[in-house]
Amino acid sequence: PAVGVGRSHAKAILLGEHTVVHGTAAIAFPLPALPVRAIARPGRSGPREVCADGHFRFLAGEAGEGGPPSGPRVAVEEALRRWGMTGVLVEVDVECDIPLARGLGSSAACAGAAVRAVADLYGRALDAATLYDCVQCGEQVAHGRASGIDASAVLAHGPILFQRGTARPIGIAVDAELVIADTGVPGSTHEAVAGVRRTLDADPRSARRVLRRATELIGSAATDLSEGRVAELGTAMFDFQDLLAGLGVSTPRIDALVTAARDAGAFGAKLTGAGLGGCVLALTATGTAPSVSAALRAAGAVRTWTVTARSLRSPA
Ligand code: PMV
Repeated sequence: PAVGVGRSHAKAILLGEHTVVHGTAAIAFPLPALPVRAIARPGRSGPREVCADGHFRFLAGEAGEGGPPSGPRVAVEEALRRWGMTGVLVEVDVECDIPLARGLGSSAACAGAAVRAVADLYGRALDAATLYDCVQCGEQVAHGRASGIDASAVLAHGPILFQRGTARPIGIAVDAELVIADTGVPGSTHEAVAGVRRTLDADPRSARRVLRRATELIGSAATDLSEGRVAELGTAMFDFQDLLAGLGVSTPRIDALVTAARDAGAFGAKLTGAGLGGCVLALTATGTAPSVSAALRAAGAVRTWTVTARSLRSPA
């Protein structure tokens, strides 16, 4: 074909961001309601990367030119290298419905859709491991040191428990709704990950305590999720938020949204993704997402999305 197409979607982390970079598990789920579509064509010359809200275009495959490459371009160049196509120039157009730099995995999702589109263009078989590895190469550029949870979750069809490069599907038996609220503030994953590393390195004893506590919270949350204990899961989210605040990645705006969710009766709430801006995730009883969303907007959220736990049970 003259063009290749590829898709991916956003993700949200329920628990375990940041500590997952240091070896704990983390729980994440895909958000198919926020898709990314990519179209690949044989490349022509022109600017290496052009970006305008939600849409960007890049040329991959020509070494040593242009500014620092974006994660998606690195991912596509890794795929071309693996296919022995290093001399090939390919143009990729990406339409991204995911707000950028909000902890929803936009960089990994754009990379995933782009690599799928290029594989489709050249009729290359793309196994899950190769796709993950290519997206991960891009993520290392975007995050500094990426755990791999974003690459896994944006390519997954259902909730996952991720640890040290391995994702496995996780059962969901809770009956609840999840509200995602955008602070409207972009947060730099690179800066947040570097800051957490400095905090942990500065005090190894307290770092061990934090990672032990995170491991406990994530372990019991995985069981609560699969056995339907929604109130306990919510408490773990509030506790994990306290832990992330202690690592320096919360902000007054995030704190205000977490408090608003709590006051509106949410079981739990916390930042999701890297923090320093980005989004807050709240766990609510079925039927109460509209009132919790309204409270979050009244407290400063620029937009909200709702996902039912039921929709996460059956693979998309
Ligand atoms: O904010 P995002 O979507 O880039 O999420 C990053 C998750 C971190 O745990 C903070 C980093 C990582 O690589 O795991």
